[in-house]
Amino acid sequence: MRRKIVAGNWKMHGSIAANRQLLLDVLAGLGDVSCDVVVCPPFPYLAQVAELLQSSRVMLGAQHVSEFAVGAYTGEVSAAMLAEFGCRYVLVGHSERRSLYGDDDARVAAKFRALVDSALIPVLCVGETLVQRERGETEAVVSRQLEAVLDQVGVDAFASGVVAYEPVWAIGTGLTATPEQAQRVHAAMRALLAERDAGLGAGMRILYGGSVKAQNAAELFGQPDIDGGLIGGASLQSTDFLAICRAAN
Ligand code: 13P
Repeated sequence: MRRKIVAGNWKMHGSIAANRQLLLDVLAGLGDVSCDVVVCPPFPYLAQVAELLQSSRVMLGAQHVSEFAVGAYTGEVSAAMLAEFGCRYVLVGHSERRSLYGDDDARVAAKFRALVDSALIPVLCVGETLVQRERGETEAVVSRQLEAVLDQVGVDAFASGVVAYEPVWAIGTGLTATPEQAQRVHAAMRALLAERDAGLGAGMRILYGGSVKAQNAAELFGQPDIDGGLIGGASLQSTDFLAICRAAN
């Protein structure tokens, strides 16, 4: 059985006071949650959040990493630094990084490799734009995004990561893929991975992201190939985030 994950991507939200309140509320309400839970705060708050999460079962994640190990890369943060601060999961290939900061498939693959080399778990985000969906290119786009990394890092390294399907048109828009739409893409991605290696396909955890809310989470997570969610806006409210975590039970 693949263990479900619910990960909160806080994006560029938060403050010392708000993070503390959010996490105290989440930790207080975790009692009946059985999935893996991850939160990904902005970099400056990693140490604060690591301390608040100490001796809890919520795991720390990060939103971004450099593909390089060390050197003159102003503004960047290495995988080893994230590991030192207690991160377990790190997003790569998020559509906001791809579209706003030029993270292309080759760079995403290099970041994935850097994370695996530091024993961190990459969360590889893939997803099509609305124009690509309307052209019927959804499967071709996500296949290209998966294969760019798989070809670069190989089956064994890829297997230590997690995939998140985030249709770009569903991110922050309130438009969610229907459970059937999402399941179709997840099943196609799993089939692609299984073609390379049966164990890779069967074992890969594939999360859905894009306007997941307390109201739609259970139906999405109930699909056979959806193994949890990557949550943006709704991860900033403890009651919403906890309800989504419970939907993964
Ligand atoms: P929303 O849940 O706000 O749509 O964001 C999804 C996302 O991009 C998570 O990485």
